[in-house]
Amino acid sequence: MEKRVLTTESGAPVADNQNSATAGIGGPLLIQDQHLIEKLARFNRERIPERVVHARGSGAYGHFEVTDDVTAYTKAAFLSEVGKRTELFARFSTVADSLGGADAVRDPRGFALKFYTEEGNYDLVGNNTPVFFIKDPIKFPDFIHSQKRDPFTGKQEPDNVWDFWAHSPEATHQVTWLFGDRGIPASYRHMDGFGSHTYLWTNAEGEAFFVKYHFKTNQGIRCLSAEQAAEVAGTDATSHQTDLLQAIERGVHPSWTLYVQIMPVAEAADYRFNPFDLTKVWPHADYPLRRVGRMVLDRNPENIFAEVEQAAFSPNNFVPGIGPSPDKMLQGRLFAYADAHRYRLGVNHTQLPVNAPRATVADNYGRDGLMATRNGSRHDKNYEPNSYGGPSQTDQALSAALAVSGHTGTHPAPAHVKDDDFFQAGELYRLMTEEEKGRLVANIAGSLSQVSREDVIEKNLAHFHAADPEYGRRVEEAVRALRED
Ligand code: HEM
Repeated sequence: MEKRVLTTESGAPVADNQNSATAGIGGPLLIQDQHLIEKLARFNRERIPERVVHARGSGAYGHFEVTDDVTAYTKAAFLSEVGKRTELFARFSTVADSLGGADAVRDPRGFALKFYTEEGNYDLVGNNTPVFFIKDPIKFPDFIHSQKRDPFTGKQEPDNVWDFWAHSPEATHQVTWLFGDRGIPASYRHMDGFGSHTYLWTNAEGEAFFVKYHFKTNQGIRCLSAEQAAEVAGTDATSHQTDLLQAIERGVHPSWTLYVQIMPVAEAADYRFNPFDLTKVWPHADYPLRRVGRMVLDRNPENIFAEVEQAAFSPNNFVPGIGPSPDKMLQGRLFAYADAHRYRLGVNHTQLPVNAPRATVADNYGRDGLMATRNGSRHDKNYEPNSYGGPSQTDQALSAALAVSGHTGTHPAPAHVKDDDFFQAGELYRLMTEEEKGRLVANIAGSLSQVSREDVIEKNLAHFHAADPEYGRRVEEAVRALRED
């Protein structure tokens, strides 16, 4: 093997990497020791801000292959032909804990995908749950503060977690999901993924459809019980990371089948649930799953910091034929992510290899800023319109236009006939087997019983009672029994 020479950052050979330079033998250090100064200074700058949520995660590359014709619903080029393949990068994550947290915890899992399409990168930033805790983005910072480490005790506090939910009855559906069997996936490979929000597809004729995405794991669903998870988290904090990495290294490539539910736009106004309410699902009996394609992950990143920590997924990265619905949560997210990336990674994060388009090139008049590497040549003007053949707009609408009505104001999302905060939570409870119900009740009681204030417990019990009287009674009995212990 050829001997490699150790160099400084500027490429000059390093003479000694074991002994720093001193004034005389045993004397003080010399500021002229460029290698020492550079090494210490660079080390101090290794950390960047971690993601404010979903800090801990794992990534992999792969592809998406279309298996079924969906051209009647979307003109997106990467979905235009059966058999068509598009390269992608996926990052899975836990939500609440910080970068050093354990993988095997009761928490939703992030399911973020970046499709490198010929019309630009399409980011679908979902979770392993079809619903969410809240339905208005204005509550998100408060919600996350209540779930992350307390600023005084430095740990997640059941008091804060349940106090927020006591004041957020709309969380009951997602809380039922989270404390049920699927609340702790055994690994990232053994869970489904959901776009969760409703999105808008537009076909070549300009017709629009509301869609929900479902990625079904082909590995089968596998979960951990609370007891199993406590053991795994205590002995192997990186259990999900190791599982994904090693499976792909072994050539066992995880895959998911993508299905969509499709709602013609005209049906949205009178549907029994508000189709843009993120705390609700569309029952499959109303809108069946239709298969679209298959996602396979087959390549590990070479470097976690460069490719996973610096990966930037943003729900506002759409391609023609796919756009946002009026879901208020989604609309809030259209702002939040790219803003987080500018803070966490800088304005030119889109030029990093994992984030840059791969099947096309970004060609616009954005310039300069820290770390600009793609900044135009002598032939490229930095303004538009120009007379020099620079890039110009297509005049092709990306998505169909949606009708709106009424006055501006801080309006709650409109309620449809069957909309309340509890019906779908009760439906989920009633779908469970007796054993599943027993574990759900025990899991909730184990956490809720740790809350110090009776009024907070009472408010939460009222939500379970409202979802289903039996559900409420059982949680109440289990909480009382644990508190009397
Ligand atoms: C209004 C509500 C929400 C806000 C304001 C919000 C904001 C954020 C922010 C700021 C990040 C960090 C981004 C970064 O630094 O790269 C993030 C990460 C993430 N969020 Fe949200 N979020 C919201 C709701 C949701 C929902 C409903 C889902 C899933 C359906 C979701 C899924 C994710 C995922 C998967 C990540 C990690 C992306 C990655 O792997 O890099 N978030 N969120």
